[in-house]
Amino acid sequence: MKTLMNNENSVNKGDFFELTGLRLIDNRFRLLEEVSGGKSSTSFFGIDESTGKNIFVKLSIFPRSELEAARFRNECRFLKEQMWVNSIIKKTPSYISHGELFDGSILYLITEKIEGQLLSDWLDKNFNEASLTDRLKIAYRVFGAAEHFSQFTVHHDLHPGNIILLDEEVDLRTRVPDFKVIILDWGQSHSKLEASYAEESDDISIIHNGMGRQITASFYNLPPETFMDWHRAGSEYNKYDSWAMGLLLYKLITGHNLFTFDNIGQFAEAMRHIERDIEFEVAKIREYAGAKSYVLQGLLYHLLVKEPRDRMFIQTARQVLWFILVEEFEPDNVGMVARFLRDPEGFKEVRWKHFESDPLAHIY
Ligand SMILES: Nc1ncnc2c1ncn2[C@@H]1O[C@H](COP(=O)(O)OP(=O)(O)O)[C@@H](O)[C@H]1O
Ligand SMILES: [Mg+2]
Repeated sequence: MKTLMNNENSVNKGDFFELTGLRLIDNRFRLLEEVSGGKSSTSFFGIDESTGKNIFVKLSIFPRSELEAARFRNECRFLKEQMWVNSIIKKTPSYISHGELFDGSILYLITEKIEGQLLSDWLDKNFNEASLTDRLKIAYRVFGAAEHFSQFTVHHDLHPGNIILLDEEVDLRTRVPDFKVIILDWGQSHSKLEASYAEESDDISIIHNGMGRQITASFYNLPPETFMDWHRAGSEYNKYDSWAMGLLLYKLITGHNLFTFDNIGQFAEAMRHIERDIEFEVAKIREYAGAKSYVLQGLLYHLLVKEPRDRMFIQTARQVLWFILVEEFEPDNVGMVARFLRDPEGFKEVRWKHFESDPLAHIY
């Protein structure tokens, strides 16, 4: 059992809940079953006794630093603000409540419980039976859910354990696509725009100042700019999540991770020859991607660009996947792929059967 503090003599979780009587929060939210798999927090499924609905309860017990507490509150604030956007395309769990207990020793967040399958579980269980088209459809849905909501929000920790697939049909042809994917774990999320308006003491400023000083996300997904000077991270900033989506697309195509790192030192060393490694690995996807190899290789190269400024936005990559899935676009030469990827929506060498404009253009 995990201990609550690093201190050897600290109480363990079971005792803690006995001691504090923390089974019912705010006279309303009952904690029933601990959720395994979270990294930074302690979570439960439970029930909202005032509505009878299933809930997800996330706790930060004795947050170790002001940064950790700020990140927790940041997730609460972010999810609360998504209510309106969620009514157009639902991408985050619905916020129910948040607050603190015992003078801030415990922070809590209550959201609805999402019924679905973690993408990490899907990859373990369904990858082998799924066709390439099925797998690209998953990528399309995840990209659609992961692209910036507005205001340049970057998630910063988009790994398959933070993504839930809903078991519902997805319509690729509507004007308001619903990707049926829910993105979790928004503690590390950040909006450069909001940070520029924030007061020094705001949670957003604390997080902004903490970025680049501490690594708390899963490091497999960290993009190369993790080791750049964060003071000059400017316009490239909002391409951060594109890197994680490139790695995910590679995994959905091949079933493998593009890299394996045992420690942060290996990661840092790998970054010195990252471009060569990517080129080498991506060249090998032909065995999985068949006639779609050229266009998928091109797409991977555009997402896994070392220099963030030159990296593709997730929404552009989502549109590229749409051309591959719905228009069945399978260019057979690299020249055409290069011209297409430079400006997928402006590409005129092919007469599209279904495409008119990005269906999301009227929302963004
Ligand atoms: N709203 C939700 N509904 C159902 N399961 C959830 C929900 N939010 C999180 N989970 C599950 O709990 C785990 C941990 O939650 P997460 O927000 O990722 O916290 P951590 O920061 O500890 O990783 C997730 O990986 C997922 O399995
Ligand atoms: Mg998580």
